[in-house]
Amino acid sequence: MKMQFPVEAFASIETPFYYYDVELLKATLETVKQEAAKYEGFHVHYAIKANFNPRLLEIVNAAGIGADCVSGGEVRAALDAGIPASKVVFAGVGKTDKEIALSLDAGIFCFNVESVPEIEAIERLAAERGVVARIAIRVNPNVGAHTHANITTGLAENKFGVNYEQLDEVIDVVESMPHLELVGLHFHIGSQLLVMDDFIALCCRINELQELLYDTRGLVLPHINVGGGLGIRYDFPDRYPIPDFELYFATYANNLNRRPGQQVHFELGRSLVAQCGALITRATYIKKGTCKQFIILDAGMNDLVRPALYDAFHRVENLMSTEADEVYDVVGPVCESSDVFCKDRRIPRTKRGDIMAIRSAGAYGEAMAFGYNCREIPKAVLSTDI
Ligand code: LLP
Repeated sequence: MKMQFPVEAFASIETPFYYYDVELLKATLETVKQEAAKYEGFHVHYAIKANFNPRLLEIVNAAGIGADCVSGGEVRAALDAGIPASKVVFAGVGKTDKEIALSLDAGIFCFNVESVPEIEAIERLAAERGVVARIAIRVNPNVGAHTHANITTGLAENKFGVNYEQLDEVIDVVESMPHLELVGLHFHIGSQLLVMDDFIALCCRINELQELLYDTRGLVLPHINVGGGLGIRYDFPDRYPIPDFELYFATYANNLNRRPGQQVHFELGRSLVAQCGALITRATYIKKGTCKQFIILDAGMNDLVRPALYDAFHRVENLMSTEADEVYDVVGPVCESSDVFCKDRRIPRTKRGDIMAIRSAGAYGEAMAFGYNCREIPKAVLSTDI
C-alpha cells in the first residue's frame, strides 16, 4: 500500500500544505498493533512530538494506542484527542510545576523523571493533592546510536536521563518520598535508527542493569520503557511505506530479559506517521544560474526544517511532469542560505506552477513548522477531506 496523491484535487488547494493519506496511517497503526500484540505485555505509546495534529491524534486514539508526551501541551493534546490518561507517559528534562500539576490532576500513567529536583517537585505537588505519582527513572544507557548527532540522546554527555553512577542515589530519593511510587525504568537512545544492533545494545544494557539492581537492592520493577527511535526509509517511501515492526518487536522480545510479568513500553513517533505525510508545494520559479538551476518552491525551511537543521534527505517528486530528468537544487523562498531542500538532485523537467511533493514528511514536519518571515504555518489536508 503506497501513498496516493489525488493531483487533480490538489490543483484547487492553496499550497504549501501538508497532505496525509489516512488509509496508509490506519494501515500502519493496525500493523504496529498486530505486531506488538504477538507479545504479552507490549504496549505502544505514540510519541506526540512527531505530529500533534488533532485529527491525526484522533485516528491514533481510535487505534487504541497510548501517548508519549514531553510537555503539558502534549499531555493536553493527548487527553483532548480522547487518549485515556491511563495510557499517557510524560518525559522531559524541564517539566514545570504547571505541567506536573496538570498531569497529576489528569492521573496520567507515569512520569519519566530525569533529575532529583524534578522528583522533589513531583513529590511536593503530589503531596498537596494527596495522590501518589507513578515514576519511571529515565536512565542514560550510554549507548551511541547510528544516527545524526543532533538526534542521539543516550550518551552520557547528553542532557537527558540519569547517569549510571547517580542511579542508586536517585532510586533512594524516589523511595524516600511518600507520594511517589517507583514503577519502572525508562530509556531512549536516539531517533531514525535502522540498525537493529542499536536496539540490541540497549537491551544488553537494560539486562545488565536489571541484574545489578536485583543483586544490590533486590529491586524488580514492573515496567520497562525502551523509548522509541525506529527509523523509516526516506530513500524509498513507496517501497517501504510501513516500517518493519515485526523485526523491531522481535528484536526486543528476543534480547530483553524480562522479569516475570514485566510490561514493556515503546514510544514510537516517526515510524507511525512519517510515511503517510507529504508537504505539497508548487514550483514558483525555475531559475537558471551560471552553473546550476534552481527550483524555487513556495514551501520553505519554516514549513519543513529537517533538511536545513539535520541535513536530512527527503525525496522531492514532481507530481505533474513525466519529462526527462534534469539536475536541480531545490530551495525555498526564505531569506536564509540554509533554506535548501536538496542539491544536485535529478528530477523530471519542472516548470513554473508544477505541483511537487516532499515525501516522508508526516513526522517532525508540521510539528516543527514555524512562522519566520511572516509565513503562514501550512494547513493540513487529510485524504478523507477530498
Ligand atoms: N521517546 C523519547 C524520550 C524521545 O526523546 C523521542 C524522540 C521519542 C520517544 C520518539 O522517537 P521516534 O520514534 O520518533 O524516533 N526532530 C527530529 C527527531 C527528534 C526526536 C526527539 N525524540 C527529526 O526530525 O529527526
